[in-house]
Amino acid sequence: MKVKTILSFAATLLCAAAFSMSAQAQLKNSPMHAQLPDNAQTKDCLMCHQSYAAVAQKTAKMEPNPHSNHRGEQNCTNCHSVKGKPHFECNDCHSFNIKMKGE
Ligand code: HEC
Ligand code: HEC
Ligand code: HEC
Repeated sequence: MKVKTILSFAATLLCAAAFSMSAQAQLKNSPMHAQLPDNAQTKDCLMCHQSYAAVAQKTAKMEPNPHSNHRGEQNCTNCHSVKGKPHFECNDCHSFNIKMKGE
């Protein structure tokens, strides 16, 4: 009985860990992103995130700022992923010490 309780507690912890890990990698797994269509475009993101400038402010301390650079206003899902693995596209050309959560 006691062992079973501990086991199910462990299982709960594991689930919680799996959830938070995938929530970081895939937007769709977090509650505020659950309604996003799989093919979401920037305009879908900006309904809540307001503007590229607003998002850039949140990452203003990052060097370089992934949301403010010579690439302009790229589609959010070039890097963030609704359902798949995120991909920091700047490093297709550069080798910045930056990784997307879950990349
Ligand atoms: C229904 C509203 C809503 C929509 C639509 C939305 N977001 Fe969010 N998002 C939020 C809220 C609320 C937070 C938590 C507060 C914050 O960090 O701004 C958040 C946080 C985030 C985070 C940081 C937390 C994490 O999961 O890593 C990222 C990245 C993100 N959103 C990207 C996106 C992208 C990309 C899109 C479009 C594909 C999008 N969001 C669409 C509401 C939304
Ligand atoms: C060039 C790649 C790239 C693009 C394009 C991009 N982001 Fe990000 N974003 C990042 C990186 C890198 C981080 C920091 C690591 C992480 O959260 O995975 C980040 C973090 C965020 C965060 C969390 C900021 C915080 O720390 O609170 C939000 C919210 C976010 N992005 C939203 C967006 C939205 C909305 C768009 C489109 C308007 C967008 N991003 C476009 C790379 C990108
Ligand atoms: C298709 C290739 C490519 C991609 C993708 C790319 N860059 Fe660049 N980047 C360049 C080139 C080319 C230069 C110019 C190098 C030079 O100054 O000689 C450059 C220069 C830079 C510089 C130096 C700018 C300066 O003023 O000297 C920064 C910072 C930078 N990129 C950030 C980024 C960020 C952040 C991203 C992702 C949002 C990104 N780059 C994506 C090709 C790319």
